[in-house]
Amino acid sequence: MDKLHITGGIALEGEVRISGAKNATLPILAGALLAQGPVTIGNVPHLRDVTTTIELLGRMGVTVTVDERMHIEVDSGTIREYFAPYDLVKTMRASILVLGPLLARFGRADVSLPGGCAIGARPVNIHVAGLQAMGADIRIEGGYIRARAARLKGARLVLDTVTVTGTENLMMAAVLAEGETVIENAAREPEVIDLANFLIAMGARIAGAGTDRIAIEGVRELHGVHYDVLPDRIEAGTYLVAGAITAGHVRIKNARPEHLDAVMVKLREAGATVDSGDNWVEVDMRGRRPRAVDVRTAPYPAFPTDMQAQFAALDTVADGVGTVVETIFENRFMHMLEMRRMGAEIRLEGNTAIIHGIKHLTAAPVMATDLRASASLVLAGLVAEGRTEIERIYHIDRGYETIEEKLAQLGARIKRVPN
Ligand code: EPU
Repeated sequence: MDKLHITGGIALEGEVRISGAKNATLPILAGALLAQGPVTIGNVPHLRDVTTTIELLGRMGVTVTVDERMHIEVDSGTIREYFAPYDLVKTMRASILVLGPLLARFGRADVSLPGGCAIGARPVNIHVAGLQAMGADIRIEGGYIRARAARLKGARLVLDTVTVTGTENLMMAAVLAEGETVIENAAREPEVIDLANFLIAMGARIAGAGTDRIAIEGVRELHGVHYDVLPDRIEAGTYLVAGAITAGHVRIKNARPEHLDAVMVKLREAGATVDSGDNWVEVDMRGRRPRAVDVRTAPYPAFPTDMQAQFAALDTVADGVGTVVETIFENRFMHMLEMRRMGAEIRLEGNTAIIHGIKHLTAAPVMATDLRASASLVLAGLVAEGRTEIERIYHIDRGYETIEEKLAQLGARIKRVPN
């Protein structure tokens, strides 16, 4: 397994291009199952989770071709099986996203129930209950969700908790259902809007994506389309924090500033000058140490849980005391324990971390435990004295395209070392 070696102490400077959003690409690839004709998807990031999704579709018999520009063509006309096996679902929970499309289009789906996860229990009860309310017959058998339906029927769904993939799964199920479905307490994340736009481009009738009430009028069939995925706001936010934590000056391009409001507010609180234009954002610390900030995660448009670990890293070297409250996942603090091994002063009380900023972290061997935790360890390594070695970086490769190349382009001393 590869490792990352990072020698800290360089103020990052320069420009970096943001890739397509992982969390929009995965539902869109699953949504391609809904179309009668071939679908092509552009601005797809080269990531392990994307490869896993392609493998999942391939195992079902779907024809997937990828060209050198990472345009992916999905043709579900060759599908043979309606099945997401345990060995893939256990490596990527987002595989659950095929449940809604398979059931809606083919009337059946056998999808392994995702198990535990490094960041929380992450049940899928809301996905299942929503499909049942739309008339699906669902049994949990041998660790699998076995779902059957002749044609799903529109229903009014009031989600117990705001869930991103839950909203996406139910929206994809509803586009081919008979009659109208209304999803109340829907997730408002930009990735939900991107999926809705993709489905609309295929002929779906959806109103209200981006609000907490999405109304879907079912249609008989959807057609093929070409669609470009939106830029990744979490990758964007991570590079902005990389600029801030190193007291540097970083500009991200191919980004959507309007999706980064909560992050930009926190960067300004940390003392950064933040500027933005049409498709770029720039953060400039003018060589100053960041000030500690408080963050509290909540569904979009509030501060994203996927940026919590990165701001925790910022707080470890900031001036003052920062408080980080995680309200979405119950076990998303593993990075705090690793950062303590680099000298960070962090006290944990339930879902709250109280971080006393110190001037310098010190390098240590650390272990990546999940995707965003890994990103925070990279950020910590950028400001640690000495050489930090990060193990288990396959977690990073799930969600950050060529992170070492992009950071090196900004001046970081970072190297991928095969083991
Ligand atoms: N929840 C339930 N029941 C359900 C579904 C969710 O109780 O049926 C709970 C979860 O346990 C959690 C909360 O609802 O406490 C919100 O979870 P959500 O369902 O929104 O998370 P998700 O859809 O599984 C997506 C992203 C995550 C991101 C979260 C929150 C994708 C593929 N994944 O997960 O991304 O953290 O939304 O914004 O879109 C990542 O990219 O690193 C990542 C983990």
